[in-house]
Amino acid sequence: MSTTNQPDDLGPVTVIVLAAGGGTRMKSKTMKVLHPIAGRSMIAHVLEAVAALQPHRVVAVVGNQREQVGPHIQELLPDALLAVQETQEGTGHAVRVAWEALEPADRSGTVLVAAGDTPLLEGEVLRAFAADHAAGGRVVSILSGVVANPHGYGRILRDDSGQVMGIVEQKDATAEEAAVAEINSGILAFDAAFLDRVLPRLRNDNAKGEYYLTDTVQLAREDGESVGAFPIEDVLQTEGANDRAQLATLAKEKNHRILTRWMRDGVTIIDPATTWIDADVRLEPDVTVLPGVQLLGTTVVAEDAVIGPDCTLKDVEVGAGARVVRTHAELAVIGAGANVGPFSYLRPGTVLGAEGKIGGFVETKNAKIGDGAKVPHLSYVGDAEIGEGSNIGAGTVFANYDGVQKHRTVVGRHARTASNNTFVAPVHIGDGAGTGAGSVIREDVPPGALGVSAGPQRNIEGWAERRRAGSAQADAARAAGDSPGDSADEAGHASGDGPAVSNEGQGE
Ligand code: UD1
Ligand code: CA
Repeated sequence: MSTTNQPDDLGPVTVIVLAAGGGTRMKSKTMKVLHPIAGRSMIAHVLEAVAALQPHRVVAVVGNQREQVGPHIQELLPDALLAVQETQEGTGHAVRVAWEALEPADRSGTVLVAAGDTPLLEGEVLRAFAADHAAGGRVVSILSGVVANPHGYGRILRDDSGQVMGIVEQKDATAEEAAVAEINSGILAFDAAFLDRVLPRLRNDNAKGEYYLTDTVQLAREDGESVGAFPIEDVLQTEGANDRAQLATLAKEKNHRILTRWMRDGVTIIDPATTWIDADVRLEPDVTVLPGVQLLGTTVVAEDAVIGPDCTLKDVEVGAGARVVRTHAELAVIGAGANVGPFSYLRPGTVLGAEGKIGGFVETKNAKIGDGAKVPHLSYVGDAEIGEGSNIGAGTVFANYDGVQKHRTVVGRHARTASNNTFVAPVHIGDGAGTGAGSVIREDVPPGALGVSAGPQRNIEGWAERRRAGSAQADAARAAGDSPGDSADEAGHASGDGPAVSNEGQGE
């Protein structure tokens, strides 16, 4: 199949995208063409493909659930025109509705008609088809394909010399016609002047009682005009998803095509069968993707980064050489050479600096963690800033929520905070400061200071035998040589039931 790199050769192109049908076999609240494949709606894939024709106008025909599909199209393509087809009386009727919505100036040149539910469609094939149509000087061209099971499609009828005579729909086909394997993909190209003449001539005297766009082919023949079909080899490109099973099949095929492209572009993908990459993801050469990885949305991964196994990254930016293991991350930035995981949860607004670390069982949210800074173990970091080179001890909770409002914690540069701390926001821990293990930090810690809030440890001798007499704990204490004598330490404690330790006010 030939391709062209000169879409200008095509002259002005108008595109009509049909998306008014009910899509009832989806059995969904969501309009058929809005179902996603590779992170985009099916119609978004079609609109991207037709953009390769550089159309001066795109009209989308909407009807069923147009309150969903209309705004979606306008968001993707603000210049698109929406034509409302109140009742679905067939593809010919739908094109007539689009035609009436167009300015006279847009009713010129080549008109391409496509359906909104063919997510594998690509611009290159459309350009080749449109170029072939223009070069052939035909009034109508059909993008056709030879398929193993043509049932349900319109069949291309050719005469003995191979000339295209018309298209017959499944329900109207004789047994002989139904045996034809060359089908109408649903994508047609028209000369605008011909389309203008032929649309009013369509009739609905057929098996479905619909106005068939496909009848234009036979009408052109009757007028002695030139028609033709352009067979596409890669027939999956024009296949539509009508139910969820076809949606899954096409999604898998789309994913396979995306992965193949990245591998050709220098990305190592160890296990394509368990790797899913959305259409808008960008990867640099020498990225390695290990099994069980989903790269979603607008995720970007720079060279030499290794992702996986078992990660889901959505709208995440990963720097060169970073290592991300068993991680779920969304709207986050992971710096060059940084380490994340295993079992880390990076929520929106997480920004990890170069060579930084977010380790096992750490959750972060709206947190800027500086270059070389580390949160290695079992922590929650929310609404925080951690300066470069700082280290946060294991089991630290940034208590950002007072039950009403969220507050911020700032940790300076090269700070060293100890294990099992709680930072009660808003609080500031200065550059080079530290904290003691088990501290609850409610007051700012000045630069270079050590903040300690856990009280000095007191050992209340003989406590177990006095308070837990007869228990396994007391037996063990006695066996270890403990004696249950009175303890002066315990006197004066209101609650003798536990080794009460003050959390506060015990600065060094
Ligand atoms: C159509 C073609 C058939 C082709 C097949 C490819 C006709 C008469 N038949 O058949 O030759 O092989 O596509 O898939 O054109 N639509 C509207 N308004 C309508 C009717 C349809 O917008 O009133 C839209 C649908 O949403 C869909 C597209 O047009 O996106 C095709 O309609 P559909 O009913 O699926 O046509 P088929 O019977 O599959
Ligand atoms: Ca169809």
